[in-house]
Amino acid sequence: MPWLWNLVDIMNSLLFNIRYGKPLLTITNTITKIYEKKSGLKIVPMRDVPAEKISSFFIAQPENSYDFFKPHGFDVKSIKRLQRLNSFLGYVFFEGEEVVAYCFIRAFFHGKGFRGRMVGVNHRGYGLGTLMNRMMNDVGFGIGLRLYETVSRRNVASYRSATSASNVKVLKEMDNDDLYLEILKD
Ligand SMILES: CC(C)(COP(=O)(O)OP(=O)(O)OC[C@H]1O[C@@H](n2cnc3c(N)ncnc32)[C@H](O)[C@@H]1OP(=O)(O)O)[C@@H](O)C(=O)NCCC(=O)NCCS
Repeated sequence: MPWLWNLVDIMNSLLFNIRYGKPLLTITNTITKIYEKKSGLKIVPMRDVPAEKISSFFIAQPENSYDFFKPHGFDVKSIKRLQRLNSFLGYVFFEGEEVVAYCFIRAFFHGKGFRGRMVGVNHRGYGLGTLMNRMMNDVGFGIGLRLYETVSRRNVASYRSATSASNVKVLKEMDNDDLYLEILKD
């Protein structure tokens, strides 16, 4: 029943905006500026980037990039839907005009947020994944969320980028090598 999930998303977005909209507005600009300085990249909130551009970034990534990364659809329609949700805190990293990375917190009005990220294949291994985790922590903790993510033991770069950015607590070990982590505030 996709319509029911859409409705839940819309309700969550409305309630999230009431509870967190103002603090988010206050801190976002400051935090993105700090991480632009650290990374030398431009950071733009997802809703201000054409959905076609974001979708093209996803299409350009090799297939194995999606072995452990399936948080949402990557087509233009799915991206546009996420852009309309106040509770989906997505950020796009640009080098010049090129999208090089993407991260998000899927947030819930009751105070939880779930992190996700992808670095463009040519930019991996240079610390960007870790930097994005730090930025998401600053945004999420900055507005008072608790942060979580699911990571596979087999996705070494992802697990290490999580543990390099902050301490984490394993809340649950799942059957398929996935770990359910709570991200801890330093
Ligand atoms: C996971 C991902 C975001 C990491 O981004 P990244 O910019 O390459 O990560 P970093 O450069 O910050 O590296 C993080 C750590 O992983 C290690 N690492 C990076 N690539 C690695 C690899 N291929 N194998 C083993 N370790 C690796 C780094 O040495 C670093 O470890 P350290 O902090 O202990 O020194 C990126 O690989 C990616 O986009 N993967 C595809 C999408 C995905 O799986 N997303 C995560 C879903 S939960």
